Amino acid sequence: MDADVLIIGSGIASLQLAKKLSTDLNVIILTKSQAEMSNSYLAQGGIAASMGDSDDYRKHALDTLEAGRFHNNPEVVAEMTRAAPSLINELWHDGCRFDEDTAGKLALGMEGAHSEKRIVHSGGDTTGKQVMNYLTETMTNNIEIIENVFVYELMVNTNTNQCFGAKGILPDGTRSEFYSAHTVIATGGCGKLFAYSSSASTITGDGIALAYLAGASISDMEFIQFHPTLLYVNGKTVGLISEAVRGDGARLVTASGEYVMEKVHPYKDLAPRHIVSQTIYQYLSKGETVYLDISMIANFQERFPSITKMCVEQGIDLQKGLLPVAPGSHFLMGGVDTDLYGRTTVHNLYAIGEAACTGFHGANRLASNSLLEGLYMGGKLAKLLQKSPKIKEQCIKTDNKERNPNFSPIFPEKAEIQRRMMENVGIVRNEINLRMHLQWLEEFGISDRFKLSLENKSIEEIEKYFMLMTAFLITKSALERKESRGGHFRSDYPVERDEWMKKKVSFKRERTKE
Ligand code: SIN
Repeated sequence: MDADVLIIGSGIASLQLAKKLSTDLNVIILTKSQAEMSNSYLAQGGIAASMGDSDDYRKHALDTLEAGRFHNNPEVVAEMTRAAPSLINELWHDGCRFDEDTAGKLALGMEGAHSEKRIVHSGGDTTGKQVMNYLTETMTNNIEIIENVFVYELMVNTNTNQCFGAKGILPDGTRSEFYSAHTVIATGGCGKLFAYSSSASTITGDGIALAYLAGASISDMEFIQFHPTLLYVNGKTVGLISEAVRGDGARLVTASGEYVMEKVHPYKDLAPRHIVSQTIYQYLSKGETVYLDISMIANFQERFPSITKMCVEQGIDLQKGLLPVAPGSHFLMGGVDTDLYGRTTVHNLYAIGEAACTGFHGANRLASNSLLEGLYMGGKLAKLLQKSPKIKEQCIKTDNKERNPNFSPIFPEKAEIQRRMMENVGIVRNEINLRMHLQWLEEFGISDRFKLSLENKSIEEIEKYFMLMTAFLITKSALERKESRGGHFRSDYPVERDEWMKKKVSFKRERTKE
């Protein structure tokens, strides 16, 4: 199959890109499951934009930098925060419905580490679903969405460093090559590498592994955001409780009524996520239960319909006003290195959305900046591809020489990978656990030298290989960064160190030329 633009993944960045490409381009979206199975679709809180009377994009930018612990790229932060109000206005005026106040103005919510109310939301706590439905329904151009295709390899000419498409396994189990002038990774992050996670079940780091194996540069993988409040039932996390709930006044308490965040940070329950998550983690480690006290929110069911539904399904009595919570992996700040058009270090290969590392989020993403980034980068890349030639790479030479078809390790179960990642590379890390974990990964042939032959492997095996490969990048990066910053906390290096503020941990595989 041939496409001018091949997009892998179907979240908000993918749909925004597809919608903004003109009708004369032939666009294919491949998604490993159903089109709506994405983190964007699950997003509750909203989209951050400085729309309030007392707000300004510079304040939004400063909050983004502060939350990102100044590891962010300040130019990128300035550009995206400046663009946010016009992105929202464009959607709103085009008919995308956002929640309004009684005066017909946008109702702006509050979330952690924001100095102003600036969270634009829709359908209460179903913002992602509403915006995604809007983008899908209003897409008019020549786009084919093919569901249940598992992409297992990017096709790259190793002599010219050009990507010319991808190989995928189709729903009937056959393998197909998708040739494209431009290939876009929009596969989301890697939330489901961890036992506790708010992510959709499909979010297992595929895009990161694909890009890394294709020779693209990957950075900042140690920065994983753990969202403080996932509903916690019978020792498992079952879904997100939006930070907007704390934005509306909810507080974290212990069983005896102690306020968990009282003396920890000036923003208390609305402190940056890594601080709240680390604090809850300390309580849970001592065997205590932490609850989100929602009793003060009078209109909880109307304001948060999807959280209400989840709690009811889990048998939680909302009248009691106490929701048991635990932190879980929520967002990957790092990813495939790109510039502000989504270009990676491999020609004609792009990455947008959570899979990309643009430098916007730094060491810890500010709440509701992810849908913003997806919308912004989808639009930016569309502008670039619109002007790009529809050429196809003719000279096909991939780096098959690197593979060893005789090596066939038996990979661990997914649950085992997730449990070990949570324990060893989770909210609190240290050298001993990270080294032990790296050694465990290497037992399965996971390294920066070796590339497994995937032609005869099942989807299940390839997915686990990608999980292990992404886990390897996170673990190596976490070992290398000898400080704590944002989503990366080392108990053996518990403070930020100035010399690390702007330093990036990056990886790029050396490819064999043919
Ligand atoms: C939330 O609603 O708490 C999540 C929003 C986000 O991650 O930006």
